[in-house]
Amino acid sequence: MIQMYHVHMSYGPGSPALVDITLRVEKAEFVFVTGPSGAGKTSLLRLIFMAERCESGQILLFGQNVARLKEKEIPFIRRRIGVVFQDFKLLASRTVKENIGLVFEVLGKPRREIARKTNEVLRLVGLEHKANSYPLKLSGGEQQRVAIARAIVSDPQILLADEPTGNLDPELSREIYKLLNEINARGVTVVVATHDIGWVGRTQKRVIQLQHSRVVTGGLKAK
Ligand SMILES: Nc1ncnc2c1ncn2[C@@H]1O[C@H](COP(=O)(O)OP(=O)(O)O)[C@@H](O)[C@H]1O
Ligand SMILES: [Mg+2]
Repeated sequence: MIQMYHVHMSYGPGSPALVDITLRVEKAEFVFVTGPSGAGKTSLLRLIFMAERCESGQILLFGQNVARLKEKEIPFIRRRIGVVFQDFKLLASRTVKENIGLVFEVLGKPRREIARKTNEVLRLVGLEHKANSYPLKLSGGEQQRVAIARAIVSDPQILLADEPTGNLDPELSREIYKLLNEINARGVTVVVATHDIGWVGRTQKRVIQLQHSRVVTGGLKAK
């Protein structure tokens, strides 16, 4: 589903963010990307979403080589990827329902289908009763669940989540992981970047560990 071979990426001369990354994530797998702050976790997820481009190496998404994809071809592949990124906030001036439906409006889907899908994902994240609330009236955990609902409303095959439990207490973090597990159980490939090692240690998931821009362990699934 996601394959990288000897991928290099930097934010400018002399500041490499990812060095010689080789990894594979299988279809419907759930993997964690961990490592200290500055290790390259966010950069790796942004690279998969093609928000950043690599300098060398190969990246395959859904079996297609995307490393040299033209800018105008990116949106078609991106539609199959849902993201929960820190710099992709909910719109404060729109209700929960509108925030989620926006993805579809952009794609020009019929109103009735937008409403149906929005209700479906709100039910999945347990926030049907907040459909008409504004994001700033919600708790941090609820806002994060709305962000997840928005990420999965268009039925992506891959879900990328960057520090999804960032500012949440352990109880709320547990709920978010439960939700991500449910989404994964529906067949979605889930990649979660987190520096929260405590959590990761308790799960049975594969862990891709980054350090100083390199993969140190877990890049390939153990046989
Ligand atoms: N927009 C940016 N411009 C320049 N350097 C960046 C930018 N984003 C991240 N970096 C650098 O790239 C490296 C990896 O950062 P990042 O991917 O955010 O790591 P992590 O998510 O593991 O904390 C760090 O050295 C960081 O300072
Ligand atoms: Mg980060």
